[in-house]
Amino acid sequence: MVHGAEGLSGSVRVPGAKNSVLKLMASTILCDGRYTLPNVPDIADVSILGDLLAAIGVSMKRTGTDRIELDNSGDLTPVAPYELVERIRASINVLGPLLTRCGEVQLSMPGGDDFGSRPIDMHVAGLEAMGAEFEFRHGDVFARADRLHGAHVAFEFPSVGATENIMTAAVLADGVTTIDNAAREPEIADLCHFLVSMGAKIDGIGSPTLRITGVEPHELRPTDHRTVTDRIQAATYMAACAVSGGSIDVVGACGDHMAMVLERFGDMGLEITPNDDGITVAAGSRLRSIDVATLPYPGIATDYKPLIITMLSVADGVGIVTENLYPGRFRYVEELQRLGADVRTSGHHAVVRGVRRLSGAPVRAHDIRAGAAMVVAGLAADGETVISGIGHIDRGYDDIVGRLAGLGASIERV
Ligand code: EPU
Repeated sequence: MVHGAEGLSGSVRVPGAKNSVLKLMASTILCDGRYTLPNVPDIADVSILGDLLAAIGVSMKRTGTDRIELDNSGDLTPVAPYELVERIRASINVLGPLLTRCGEVQLSMPGGDDFGSRPIDMHVAGLEAMGAEFEFRHGDVFARADRLHGAHVAFEFPSVGATENIMTAAVLADGVTTIDNAAREPEIADLCHFLVSMGAKIDGIGSPTLRITGVEPHELRPTDHRTVTDRIQAATYMAACAVSGGSIDVVGACGDHMAMVLERFGDMGLEITPNDDGITVAAGSRLRSIDVATLPYPGIATDYKPLIITMLSVADGVGIVTENLYPGRFRYVEELQRLGADVRTSGHHAVVRGVRRLSGAPVRAHDIRAGAAMVVAGLAADGETVISGIGHIDRGYDDIVGRLAGLGASIERV
């Protein structure tokens, strides 16, 4: 339950990134032994992937509020069953590591999300180029390869998941794999650094061309690695401040990873000041409308979009938002309309005419980011907003209620 806010203040620490740690966890399949990962968010998706890894043969335990330990027993079962895979899209990230480590995998096909279908054709084509053979039966993917070999993989589109699967598979492949038009998200660079600290050989980290030279299994070792900070969670607290007014310190926020979105927040009138610990954000007068298009990194991430549409819904003027990754990712717009937002969608565009204030109402969280946007919308709404479906928010946000309450918001879990 959220009440309209009139100014936030104080500081909020941003946890580690979901979309990094899940990939680090999956990559522990590559080598036996014990791994320690600090700066891990306490979110449901980490526990769910932990359950899947336990079924495969890698146990996970929380050894502190923001720290996990994983232990790869070496006795691996390369099977990812439906009951676990259907709970989390990132389970697809076990494909590359299991195939290259065990030579075979049986994985239930990951389903779509509320915002549309999410195919894996690029993962499959890349691994086939490396010598894997695939079969699809009864909703399962069966893949096998004696030993994968290096290949030249060129993506039509820089898919995050496909880049990660090809890269992790290439770590133990025979020879050199080059990925052209690789995804460049900071979480991919984080995974590269993790793999390198395990002994992998990767050139071009952070660039659109990755060159991975395969190593022998005995050349890998387990490692300890601090997860990169979550740029989407950081932006969520900034958006909360933007619609509430006030000034907050977003501790741990990394300006370099958020350059484009920070520039656009600045265009909307937010004052953004980097400091030694993160970024200070101040919101004074009413936000100004802007036009935004989502693009792969370094463009504006699709995951920021529900936040941006929420900010635009109380900004001065009209903003047009274009979604270039998931055409169906507008379902939360109906929820914003329930709060009095003036948003029209057509195809992959949304036209947002700002109103001064939203008005509280019951709404539903349809996915992680849409749920976070509902929380921000509640801060921009007079009266009380009750959000259901918060299990989605718990999948990716570590104590959003406590963090916002710490900034002075009136929010509670009921
Ligand atoms: N695509 C294909 N074929 C493929 C792979 C992707 O057509 O083989 C299409 C997808 O259908 C989609 C687009 O390419 O339309 C983007 O997919 P991508 O592979 O880049 O994304 P992903 O790995 O499935 C990750 C994040 C998403 C985030 C996207 C884009 C994780 C676990 N998920 O998904 O995060 O939106 O990258 O940045 O890392 C979230 O955190 O809430 C979330 C959805």
